[in-house]
Amino acid sequence: MTRINIFDTTLRDGEQSPGVNLNQLEKLEIAKQLERFGVNVMEAGFPASSRGDFEGVKKIADTIQQASVTGLARAVKSDVDAAWDALKGGVDPRLHVFIATSPIHMTHKLKKSPDQVVTIAEDMVRYARKTFPKVEWSAEDASRSDLDFLVHIIEKVIDAGATVINLPDTVGYTTPYEYGKMFRYISENVRNIDKAILSAHCHDDLGMAVANSISAMENGATQVEGTINGIGERAGNAALEELAVAMHIRKDFYNIETTINLGETKRTSDLVSKLTGMFVPRNKAVVGQNAFAHESGIHQDGVLKHAETYEIITPELVGVHSNDLVLGKHSGKHAFKDRLKKLGYELSDELLGKAFVEFKQLTDHKKMITDDDLFTILTDIQTSAYDISSYDLTSFQVHYGSGNLPTATVAMTNPDGDKCEEARTGSGSVEALYNTLDALIKEELHLTDYQLNSVGRGRDALAEAHVKMTVEGIDVTGRASSQDVLEASAKAFVNAVNRFIHQRAMEAGTKNDQEHTILT
Ligand code: KIV
Ligand code: ZN
Repeated sequence: MTRINIFDTTLRDGEQSPGVNLNQLEKLEIAKQLERFGVNVMEAGFPASSRGDFEGVKKIADTIQQASVTGLARAVKSDVDAAWDALKGGVDPRLHVFIATSPIHMTHKLKKSPDQVVTIAEDMVRYARKTFPKVEWSAEDASRSDLDFLVHIIEKVIDAGATVINLPDTVGYTTPYEYGKMFRYISENVRNIDKAILSAHCHDDLGMAVANSISAMENGATQVEGTINGIGERAGNAALEELAVAMHIRKDFYNIETTINLGETKRTSDLVSKLTGMFVPRNKAVVGQNAFAHESGIHQDGVLKHAETYEIITPELVGVHSNDLVLGKHSGKHAFKDRLKKLGYELSDELLGKAFVEFKQLTDHKKMITDDDLFTILTDIQTSAYDISSYDLTSFQVHYGSGNLPTATVAMTNPDGDKCEEARTGSGSVEALYNTLDALIKEELHLTDYQLNSVGRGRDALAEAHVKMTVEGIDVTGRASSQDVLEASAKAFVNAVNRFIHQRAMEAGTKNDQEHTILT
């Protein structure tokens, strides 16, 4: 069997999705889940890009034990140094350094000749190997590069110490046939290719990212890169859960194995979707809600007679269980803790106490607490600790009646600790609430997106609200869940503003920090 390494870039390329803005705690939660999912390498960010990214990558590298944590660097020494500072505490640190190799990028973006690019690439890999035991080198826009130039530069960077050669389809332009052919050519023509492993990294602009990655594997790649739910720049990256399940289901054909724990697939997808606000379409392969729904009578009949007539993937394979145990009003702390442990949460006593209080409050309104509810409570608790003063929603009321103008009254504490109260109207309840919050919050705000979802099913399901807004011209997102849709909406709004305040405080820290330059 051929072993394929899974390289996850949800926290770097995925985080570059428009509108995605994760804080450090959220990144850490995703990293821990990726570890449970069993990825071999996780790209935690771009350490030189900002103080926040640096700290986030460092925290992940210092925490993760079962995967190699990497960070991105441009081919400049200061990026490599920042990456080493962030990653050196990890169990298996590696660098991911890139430079573009296509004529269009070298001429117009880098304004360098091919020979200059070769020299920079070699020098940077050699420099990185002074500290990093493993260095992945990427030929950005490889799929639009000259094949013989690729052969030449790859030989040089392998001689300089590169251990992984990644050939990205940066703009999602290639086709499975062409991409596979490129891998075959490189495998057959690069003299020292046996000293490195070949990696595929595909974008989905033409909807072919997964097919292209598979084609690369068929032609010599032994590492595939991608993101959970396929999030990423523009149309996104290859969806890792699709690749992992495809390799498993078709191992009869590919004879491939990975270290992926497929039973963690759904939970990994749910966590990424919840924290990024990038919702998974119902019909999405492997993790969409309809992936296992057989609607037509003929299909239902077939599945009932023999599941494999129409079902090639079982829900259980990817961690979807219909018989999730439920907790209720009378469940004690012991049962609660036990269930959390089974779900993979290891909590400090303080967090456990906090989670139990939330759980009990929820049981006042909701009879059966499902794993989805626990997942929401726990995710919210683990990702919401800010240690700077921020806005705090004390109470609110909304008056709505058909034929009346909806009116909201909100009381809150501002970051200076002052109590304040306002009332405003709006054409609907949410608008009235948001107009009132806007009047109370001193920053300049513009709401750009608002989404409401239910967690699980049933009339008493938790509501989860996601907002996107600009605060003082900066894009931020906010998220909150509650039994009530208006409360979830209000809290998501306040959460976005608080995240902005936190981000501003972090950036103020960066300006005083000479070591880490913010890159544009
Ligand atoms: O798509 C791409 O080319 C990248 C590189 C930075 C590897 O993400
Ligand atoms: Zn990419």
